[in-house]
Amino acid sequence: MLTLDISKAASFLNEGAIEKYAHSAMQAALALEEKTCAGNDFLGWVTLPTDTTDAFIAEINQCAQRLRQMCDTIVVAGIGGSYLGAKAVIEALSDSFQWLANDKNNPDILFAGNNISEDYLYELQQLLKTRRFGVINISKSGTTTETALAFRLLRKQCEQQRGKEEARQVIVAITDAKKGAARAAADKEGYSTFVIPDNVGGRFSVLTPVGLLPIACAGFDIQKLVEGARDMQAATASGVPFAQNPAALYAATRNALYNEGGKKIEILANYQPKLHFTSEWWKQLYGESEGKDGKGIFPASVDLTTDLHSMGQWIQDGERTIFETVLSVEQSNHIVLVDEDEENLDGLNFLAGKRVDEVNKMAELGTQIAHIDGGVPNLRISIERIDEYNLGQLLYFFEKGCGISGLLLEVNPFDQPGVEAYKKNMFALLGKPGYEAETAAIRARIK
Ligand code: PA5
Repeated sequence: MLTLDISKAASFLNEGAIEKYAHSAMQAALALEEKTCAGNDFLGWVTLPTDTTDAFIAEINQCAQRLRQMCDTIVVAGIGGSYLGAKAVIEALSDSFQWLANDKNNPDILFAGNNISEDYLYELQQLLKTRRFGVINISKSGTTTETALAFRLLRKQCEQQRGKEEARQVIVAITDAKKGAARAAADKEGYSTFVIPDNVGGRFSVLTPVGLLPIACAGFDIQKLVEGARDMQAATASGVPFAQNPAALYAATRNALYNEGGKKIEILANYQPKLHFTSEWWKQLYGESEGKDGKGIFPASVDLTTDLHSMGQWIQDGERTIFETVLSVEQSNHIVLVDEDEENLDGLNFLAGKRVDEVNKMAELGTQIAHIDGGVPNLRISIERIDEYNLGQLLYFFEKGCGISGLLLEVNPFDQPGVEAYKKNMFALLGKPGYEAETAAIRARIK
């Protein structure tokens, strides 16, 4: 089971500073369950693991099976919460070099619609010319420009290469039940669809078809992912006392460090490159949920030990406004031993017979001690191994921790009004119909 150690953060705070948040953290956990808090129409994610039936998982697996049979490549079009969860889980579970392998058991899962780079889209189009590809178009609003633009190109190419009839069988839409352009196109063209529930916001949607379908297409066990999340739903329920409730403890510690300790930046550190996108997903979850009303811990991340040779100096010695949360994996999935070498030219014989993971673990421990000595409070989240079950736990733990933490911060963790500002300017600059006044105003500003 996932564990959380806050002792090396508590030591930076006055005694009782974290416990001071115990009552409000548990009240927040209860409010999430009873749907009595800010943003209460977006709390479907709280019980999503236990609400997800085996029949629904089977339905997703059936669709994934069809795509897997008909496609060597599946492009997932989506941005923000409509892609990061799937990307995080697929990257964590995949062989690091699978994309180079010749004998593939699974289709390649590629992502698009998360940027507006012409070069990216051109290069994707070129690659797809020789692929039997399908598309999963994911957009809750159905109107997000990045995703809609990529989907327009992908759909056309798919229809050109496979014919309209066959394309229809390999294009799937995951969107709102009724609203939005993605829904309208899906209904008109007869694509298979899955609904993003109204009461689940994008960044909390990884355990809906938004995450589950691409993950199943990649060949991973979504039943186990949901099981892990279910167990974490139970472990973080409002009935679990504060001291044993990892989500409440995490939320309380973050808020104590922010308010009492003056720590404005949280750095999520992993020691497994496969977890890079787990950090990206986490950054979106916490950044978009908490960064509002002039408040919020800035979520940053590093991949270690890689970034000890780039950001290590800053973490050790820079401005002391940071704390570090280490994402630790107890067991590697493979064993690599360091050999004895007769010549010992590299001087590494002292490691002979040890597992590489032991070296990594000592780097982790040594770094933790160094950073604590450097004045960086340290939290440690530990999972048993990287697999579907443990990732399911981790995802739900972070979601629940985020909901509680945002409520402790007294913001609405489930809205994102700030995201609209750039869109308004972009549409005005591009002369979108309906934006005439904004177009005139912005053009006057940039003369
Ligand atoms: O968390 C969120 O709500 C956002 O990050 C959305 O997921 C993102 O903006 C994409 O929105 P949509 O799914 O409507 O295209």
